[in-house]
Amino acid sequence: MRTQSAPWRAVAVLASVLLVGGVAACGNSDTGGGSKDDGKITLGFSQVGAESGWRTANTTSIKESAAAAGIELKFDDAQQKQENQIKAIRNYIQQKVDVIAFSPVVESGWDTVLKEAKDAGIPVILTDRSVDSADKSLYKTFLGSDFVKEGRLAGEWLVEQKKTASGPVNIVELQGNTGAAPANDRKKGFGEAIAANPNLKIIASQPGDFTRAGGKQVMEQFLKANPKIDVLFAHNDDMGLGALEAITAAGKVPGKDITIITVDAVKDGMQALADGKFNFIAECSPLLGPQLMDLAKKVHAGEEVPARIETEETTFTTEQAKEALPNRKY
Ligand code: AHR
Repeated sequence: MRTQSAPWRAVAVLASVLLVGGVAACGNSDTGGGSKDDGKITLGFSQVGAESGWRTANTTSIKESAAAAGIELKFDDAQQKQENQIKAIRNYIQQKVDVIAFSPVVESGWDTVLKEAKDAGIPVILTDRSVDSADKSLYKTFLGSDFVKEGRLAGEWLVEQKKTASGPVNIVELQGNTGAAPANDRKKGFGEAIAANPNLKIIASQPGDFTRAGGKQVMEQFLKANPKIDVLFAHNDDMGLGALEAITAAGKVPGKDITIITVDAVKDGMQALADGKFNFIAECSPLLGPQLMDLAKKVHAGEEVPARIETEETTFTTEQAKEALPNRKY
């Protein structure tokens, strides 16, 4: 009988170590990478931040729905920073959660961390905002709004309102944070819609980061630099609400001297619309929690889910806001 030489013994030892390690890893994979097998799904969620009323309502919806669905939620607030989201996702991978969900602060730069999650066998759900990764196998589904449509609905309303305008209509635009899907897409949809009337011109467009403070500060600059502003298109209610302060301080009447169009339809925005300070809102619903929990259960169970699930939304005029306000949930 031949005995093994020293190098072959080393290879054999290494192989048995890998085998044992592999079996241990397989033990976790049947629960999608979950750290413990107590039957409870653990969901790691990385939230964008707390920049707006919309975001607060979205966080509440996710926390309440997780509790109602019996899902253990690990929650992280990234404070509008991509590096914080990447760190949170890596932590969730290390903790071997069953499912990861996140709302990407910007569209680009996710491939590496998404690949790490895929290699670890942890399914990922995108919620609210999407990523621009070419490899769609890096995530299971995207649940959220059609932001291009929201921008388009806002633009189409303006085209209709200004159809008899005989001269230039000067528009200023408050964008969301640079690189975010809702900022890119709402800009695109709005721009495409207003192209129908060459009188409608965007004379200034800057990010206000989806915050009230950002909206106020950028609107102040717009007002200083542009003596004639006819319309404000703000990518969310909060920036519009901040801009109201700047407009009033400049001695103008919001909703009359300057037509104001926003997106979201959170309570404060709807109140401003009902009061005639805003003129039109394209809705973006933050109540994504129940659908997200349902999807988390399905992907954990290995069920097929649609690649895209679009949120149902509407638009509001002042009259419609007055009617909807008493039953508004967020
Ligand atoms: O991604 C959704 C957007 O993010 C909301 O319109 C805005 O208010 C939020 O900050």
